[in-house]
This record gives sequence, C-alpha cells and structure tokens, in this order.
Amino acid sequence: MAKTQPILVTGGAGFIGSNFILQWLATEGTPLISLDKLTYAGNLSNLEQVASDQRYSFVQGDICDRKLVQNLLARHRPSAIVHFAAESHVDRSIHGPDDFIRANVNGTFALLEEARAYISGMATDEKSRFRFLHISTDEVYGSLEPDEPPFSEATPYNPNSPYAASKAASDHLVRAYHHTYRLPTLTTNCSNNYGPFQFPEKLIPLTILHASEGKPIPVYGDGQNVRDWLFVEDHCSAIRTVLSLGRVGETYNIGGKSEKPNLEIVRTICTILDELRPHDPVVPHKNLITFVQDRPGHDRRYAIDTTKIDRELGWRPRQTFDTGIRSTIQWYLAHDGWIREVTSGAYRQWIATQYSM
Ligand code: NAD
Ligand code: DAU
Repeated sequence: MAKTQPILVTGGAGFIGSNFILQWLATEGTPLISLDKLTYAGNLSNLEQVASDQRYSFVQGDICDRKLVQNLLARHRPSAIVHFAAESHVDRSIHGPDDFIRANVNGTFALLEEARAYISGMATDEKSRFRFLHISTDEVYGSLEPDEPPFSEATPYNPNSPYAASKAASDHLVRAYHHTYRLPTLTTNCSNNYGPFQFPEKLIPLTILHASEGKPIPVYGDGQNVRDWLFVEDHCSAIRTVLSLGRVGETYNIGGKSEKPNLEIVRTICTILDELRPHDPVVPHKNLITFVQDRPGHDRRYAIDTTKIDRELGWRPRQTFDTGIRSTIQWYLAHDGWIREVTSGAYRQWIATQYSM
C-alpha cells in the first residue's frame, strides 16, 4: 500500500466505523476519508478528537449516490474501501425493511460497481494492491442449536431477519464481484460488538442507560438467547489485520469466544452498576429487569469459530468480557453529554414504538 494513498471508509460516523477511524489514526500513518450519510445512527461528535487531524476528512453523503462515490474515488484514489455503512438494527428491520434493502443491498451494489470501474483504469500492480473490505455479520448464518458447533466460514447461509437477509445479499454480491470481475475483495463476518459510541437502541447501552436512570430493562422472551460478545476495539484490530494480511477473495469470521445468554449480560451490568452507582434511583439495579414480548423470529444462539483468522493471520481478541464490559459501563457513565445528544426526540419515539413504555 503506497504511503500517501488514503483509504475510503463508509459508515465512519457509526459505532464500529468511528472506533475504527480512531484506532486507524492512532496506529497507521495513512490518511482516511469517511463517507457517511449521517442517519440517526451516525454521529460526528464520535470523532471530535480527530476532527482537526490533517489525515482525516469527512464527506456527508449516501453510498447509493454513484456519482458522488465515483468522484471521491477519482479525486482521492484510495488504496482500499473499508465498507461499514449499513442499517444495522434487527428490530428496526422488522418494523421497516425498506431502508435495509436500500442501504445494505443497493448501497453495497453501488459501491461495488464504482470500485469495479475505478480499478479498471489501474495499472496491474496498483490493481493488485487495491482492496474492497466488506464488513458483515454472523447473523447471515442463522441460528444455532445449543449443541451445534460455532459458525465457520463454511457454514451455509441461513439469514432469518430482514437485516440478516440484506447483509447476506450484500455478502453474495461481494463474492460475485470477486468471482466474476476479480475485484480484490475481503469479507469479515463478526459477532456482537459492544463498547464506546454504540447507539443506545442495542442491548448493552440500552441496559446501562435504563438501569442508571431507574427505567425498566427490557429482556426479550426468556432471556436465554445467546450471543458471542466482542469488544469493539478487538473487532477493529481484526479488520486492520484482514486488510493488511487477508487473502483476496476470502471471508474471515471474527468473534470473542464469549458466548453468553442475554439475561446473564443484563445481570452482570446490574451488578457492576450496584458497585459503581449505589445511589441510583433503583438499587439493586436487577429489580428493573422486565421480561417483554419476544422479537419475532428471534435467533436463539450465535457463536463464532475463529480458527481461520487466528491460524492464518494471527489475530485473537485482547479483551475478556469482564474487562471490556466494565470499561464500557465506565465510558457510558462518563459521557452523559454524548448520551443526551443521541437520545433526542427521534430516539424517544423509537423506544416508545418498540417497547410501548
Ligand atoms: P451503526 O448503525 O452504528 O452505523 C452505521 C453507519 O452507517 C452510520 O453512521 C450511518 O449514518 C451510516 N449509513 C447508513 N446508511 C448509509 C448510507 N446509505 N450511506 C452512507 N452512510 C450510511 O452500525 P455499526 O453497529 O457500527 O455496524 C457497522 C457495520 O458492521 C454494519 O455493516 C453492520 O452490519 C456490521 N456489524 C455490526 C455488528 C455490531 O454488533 N454492531 C456486528 C457485526 C457486523
Ligand atoms: O451478531 C451481530 C449483530 O449483533 C450485528 O450484525 C447487528 O448489527 C447488531 O445490532 C447485533 O444484533 P443483535 O440483534 O444481536 O443485537 P441487539 O443488541 O439488538 O440484541 C442483542 C440480544 O439482546 C438479542 O438476542 C436481542 C436481545 N434484546 C435486545 C434489545 C434491544 C433484548 O432482550 N432486549 C432489548 O431491548
């Protein structure tokens, strides 16, 4: 990768994208352009600390806008596209799938088409260095029974929610662009992330907020659905590893080797908050746990087999769930300004729609 060439990051104002940009600028020398539509989930204040870094520039725009993408590629000549931009919340995809098809399927298609046109004008060695890195999810594999082995890269796709189906469709497009046009693609399928800057519609930040404010903590169904939790900075380091060392055309599964039922996650957060916030409105915080109606089609269990990325690329997570969850809770407690900013009227409307609270 030539030192002066930037990378183009899509969805850089979201949860994982902004953590990735902060880590990239702290560890890599190369500049970076962030393209983000700034939907409800995108927030430029996540990147306040690098706003004046000469290596970082931001463009507000839609990945479906092909002219814009074409111009950005022609003007900045990035050595890679790291593609995070997506609608990412399963519950919202159940209420309204349209946005998910548009952003996740049509948006990825638009980027692939423009990337294909972009590399067609490159010399062979420049082309061979270019990478299209597509960030995807373990949800494309469907749901595991309690005794089934974790998802590997060979597990057949079986997406169950509109969100998962839209991500699966985008993964298939990426695969086809490598197979048919030799676009130098890489795909990562990661498990549930948690950490700073996660929008409080997702389980962990929602629980921290509701518990500390004395509001009911909604647990879907019996609370025994299992997810494999990974601290977001570990996901970002895995993406950097795949970008520099991954074999073109391959997919890599990323996970935390940290399978936990939702009820255990919620109880752990409550216990830590009892210690850190003994004067909150409701203590013990676990008294706020409220079982609510289950998510339609709720996948029972996800788990990731990380053998491939570990053996081939030498990546493994650094944080345990115990260390990661404590620092995440501390981050949320220290950033009430950020929370106030993101939990605006539109957020309150979503909570009212989803939980009838
Ligand atoms: P997020 O919802 O926090 O952020 C998504 C970002 O994409 C936002 O900044 C939003 O403004 C932007 N965006 C949406 N549509 C856009 C469009 N049409 N054009 C330009 N920008 C657009 O999501 P996240 O949790 O950070 O997830 C990022 C990616 O990682 C997604 O592709 C998601 O599928 C994948 N992923 C997420 C997790 C997780 O646990 N959060 C796990 C595995 C994979
Ligand atoms: O597995 C990777 C996926 O993880 C990503 O692809 C998605 O973008 C990301 O949103 C996440 O999806 P989940 O649906 O697993 O995350 P969420 O935080 O919404 O839910 C986690 C679990 O907690 C899930 O089993 C549903 C449950 N849950 C969630 C919410 C919001 C509750 O019990 N109560 C809630 O209020």
